[in-house]
Amino acid sequence: MSEIQSLDDVVARATAEIEAVESEPELDSVRVAYLGKKGVITAQLKSIGSLPVEERPIAGKAITSARSVIEKLLKTKRQALLQIVHTKRLESERIDVTLPGRRNFSGGPHPLTRTLMRMQEIFLSIGFDIAVGPEIEDDYHNFEALNIPENHPARAMQDTFYFPDGRLLRTHTSPVQIRYMGTHKPPIRVVAPGRVYRCDSDITHTPMFHQLEGLVVDETTTFADLKGVLEYFVSEFFEQQLKLRFRPSYFPFTEPSAEVDISCVFCHGDGCNVCKRSGWLEVLGCGMVHPALYKDVGIDGERFVGYAFGLGVERFTMLRYGVNDLRLFFKNDLDMLSQFK
Ligand code: DAH
Repeated sequence: MSEIQSLDDVVARATAEIEAVESEPELDSVRVAYLGKKGVITAQLKSIGSLPVEERPIAGKAITSARSVIEKLLKTKRQALLQIVHTKRLESERIDVTLPGRRNFSGGPHPLTRTLMRMQEIFLSIGFDIAVGPEIEDDYHNFEALNIPENHPARAMQDTFYFPDGRLLRTHTSPVQIRYMGTHKPPIRVVAPGRVYRCDSDITHTPMFHQLEGLVVDETTTFADLKGVLEYFVSEFFEQQLKLRFRPSYFPFTEPSAEVDISCVFCHGDGCNVCKRSGWLEVLGCGMVHPALYKDVGIDGERFVGYAFGLGVERFTMLRYGVNDLRLFFKNDLDMLSQFK
């Protein structure tokens, strides 16, 4: 009887110890203490042999049932511990699937590129081709062939970037007229977009800027055609019907020449800050191709007649997008640029 009493104590102690365990290694040492080779239960089993023969079966039964109680408690506790570990892991690895994803910052074309693409699309849609020429030009194409005489102010050092060998950075896209006429026979209908350079830098001038040149040469080309094309172009570009005003002007490579104003895209002629209360915006230069230009390129000036125009891409971009400072185009400020995506 005393054996059984003490077995109850053993089981009670084991139960309490198992209860208190907080980790698997701890649980393992409790198991060893009771069921291991030198454990309490194992010792009890070994001591059966010293009991009187008639007591042995009862004692044996009692001990094995105590053992299986302890085994069961260990098993349950092991499962509980595993469950805790599992729950902790799930908690620590939790993913909030409702969080917004992190996106890559996506870029977009520079506003000047957008404007250039837009301008080219409009001209392509009415039958123009795109022409390009070199940014490093020679004096002949940039000046001489365009009927700009030796002493013309545009040649002065302060306007033109010269290389030591006499070549230069083109000051306008007009030399593409000469290059294109030199390699193509009329009918000619092209626009030439590109970078141009002038030794000039202040609030309204940057040393590099962009122009778009237009050239049409055919047998029956008239100034009225020029007016019609320009009116179509600016109205398409600004997506509103605009009035055009042609003011007589002078360019060495056109005769007659004109400067073109459009009705203000902001106030529609009423007068505002942008048009300086005049209701008009000066946007481009144009004229009928000067006959002197045909001589060197082998086009018969008696048979063919043409018109040309040139415009500033920065100015058109500022007017279209309401950008009020030219320098913003060249600052690479992402806050400004990302508005054009
Ligand atoms: N090349 C001129 C400039 O840079 C712009 C220009 C004016 C081009 C009249 C033309 C034109 O083709 O006909 O200021």
